[in-house]
Amino acid sequence: MAAIDDAVAQMASLALAAYKAGRHDDAIDAFTKAIAHKDSAILRKNRAAVKAAQQDWTGAEADLTAALATSPPDALKGRILLKRSFARAARERHAAAGDDAASAAALMQGPEREKCLAQAARCRRDAKRDADLLKATAADGQHMVHPAQKLRLAFASPLPATVDEGDAFDVEVRLGNEFGLWRPADWSTVGNGETTLVASARGGGVVEAAPVAIGSDGRGRLTIRVKRGGDFMLRISPEGAWARRPLAVLSLPFIEATRAINAGATCCRELALGKVSVVVAEAPARLGIGGKLWDAALALVAHVGSTRGTDECVHGKRVLELGSGVGAVGIGARLFGASRVVLTDIEDVVPLLEANIELNHVDNVAAVALDWFQDVPSAVLEESFDLVLASDVVYDPDLHAPLLRTLGVLLDRVPVCLLAHRRRNPHDADFFGALRARFDVAERVVSTGGGVLVPEDVELFAVRRRGA
Ligand SMILES: C[S@@+](CC[C@H](N)C(=O)[O-])C[C@H]1O[C@@H](n2cnc3c(N)ncnc32)[C@H](O)[C@@H]1O
Repeated sequence: MAAIDDAVAQMASLALAAYKAGRHDDAIDAFTKAIAHKDSAILRKNRAAVKAAQQDWTGAEADLTAALATSPPDALKGRILLKRSFARAARERHAAAGDDAASAAALMQGPEREKCLAQAARCRRDAKRDADLLKATAADGQHMVHPAQKLRLAFASPLPATVDEGDAFDVEVRLGNEFGLWRPADWSTVGNGETTLVASARGGGVVEAAPVAIGSDGRGRLTIRVKRGGDFMLRISPEGAWARRPLAVLSLPFIEATRAINAGATCCRELALGKVSVVVAEAPARLGIGGKLWDAALALVAHVGSTRGTDECVHGKRVLELGSGVGAVGIGARLFGASRVVLTDIEDVVPLLEANIELNHVDNVAAVALDWFQDVPSAVLEESFDLVLASDVVYDPDLHAPLLRTLGVLLDRVPVCLLAHRRRNPHDADFFGALRARFDVAERVVSTGGGVLVPEDVELFAVRRRGA
C-alpha cells in the first residue's frame, strides 16, 4: 500500500511540475496515470484545473463531479464546488453554477466564502436574466435566437498554453450567437461546404492549417502547425459564403497573457474597423455577462469611429463608458482619437478591463469600478467628460432605476450619452419611457463607417439633460 502511495505521489508531483511548466498534455497524462493507481478527490480536482486551463470545461466538470462523489472533507468539497461552478458557468449553465457556488459558500469561511458568494450572485443574475428573457421574448413572439444576431466562433477544445516552432495540435471551434446559441435554419450555407474555417496568427507567429468546411452542427476541427512561434495569438476565422460573416475567435497571446489569465480570460475577440483594430479578452466563465462582447458594442464602436464633426464624435473628447464589459467600445473610442477614456463596470469586471487596456497598448485609458447601485465614485466626479458611452446596459428591469439615477448624476455634468441598445425584453420599453420622461432622447441612425460588423437591429439614442 505504501509503495502505491509513493508511486502516486511521484506521478502527482510530475503532473504538477508539467502543469506549472505549461505542458498541459503531459500534466493530464501524469494525473490520469496517478488516478488509475489510486483515485482521489485531490487528483481529480487537480486534473480538472489543467482541463479548465485548456478550456475543456466539459472534462473539468466531469472530473469535479467525480471528485465530489468521493465525499471529500468540507473545505476541499467547497473548493471543488467553486471550481465546478466556474466550469458550469463557462458552459452557460448559470443556474447549476449558482447552486454550486452557494453550496461552496456554506462550507467556506473568510475571503474564500466571499469569493463563493460573489460567484453565486453573479451566476444567479445570469440565470435570472436568461430565464426572464426567455419568458419575456416568448410572450412577445421574439426569440433569443434570430438572424440579425452576429454569430461568433468559440473554442470548443483545449489549446496549448505555449507553442513552439514545429508544434502541431488540433483545435475545435463552434458557432454561436451572443448567448452561445444558433439556429441552422437561419444559416443555409453552414454545413453545405460553402463555409470554411481558416487559421492565421495575429502578431509575430506563423501558423499553417488546411481550411476545413464547417459541419452542419456548426463545428469544425483544424490541425494547426506552428511554423514560427513567439508572442502571437492563434486566430480561427470563418471564410466563404456568409450572408453576415461571424466574428473570428482568437487565443490569448501565447506569451505575456498572465494578466488576462488572472482576470479569468480564456479567448479574445478582434474588431477590425478600418485602420483601427481592437482586441479584447473575454472571461465568460469567471464574469458571466460582463465577461463577453455583446452585439450592441459592435454597433456603438463602429458608430463612434465614423461620426465626425458633431458633439457625438469621439475625436479629441474625454469619454466615460458605463457597463463597459470587456471594454471594446471605450478602447475603440481611444483608438479612434478620444483624448482620455475611463472604462467602468462593477468591481469584479475591472481586472478584465485592465487586462484589455494592456492588450491594446493604449495610454490615457483607465478602468474604475462604478456600480449603478452606488454613488458615482469621486474618481469619476473629479474628472471632466465630454461624452458618455454605453452599450447593452438596458437588459434587466432590476437595473433600470439605478442606471437612470446614475445617468441623472452624469448628465448634469456631461453634455450627451450615446446609448446602444438591442431590444429583447418587452420591459425595455419601461426604461425608455422613464428615460424620455426625464431627459431629451433623440434616435440616431447607426453610422457603420463601411464596417461589416454592425447588426442592423441595434438602436442608438443620444440622451441629454432636458433643455441642454
Ligand atoms: C450585456 S453587458 C454589456 C457589456 C458591454 N457594454 C458590451 O456591450 O459588450 C452589460 C454590462 O453591464 C454591467 N453591469 C451590470 N450591472 C451593473 C451595475 N450595477 N453597475 C455597473 N455595471 C453593471 C455588466 O457587468 C456588463 O458588463
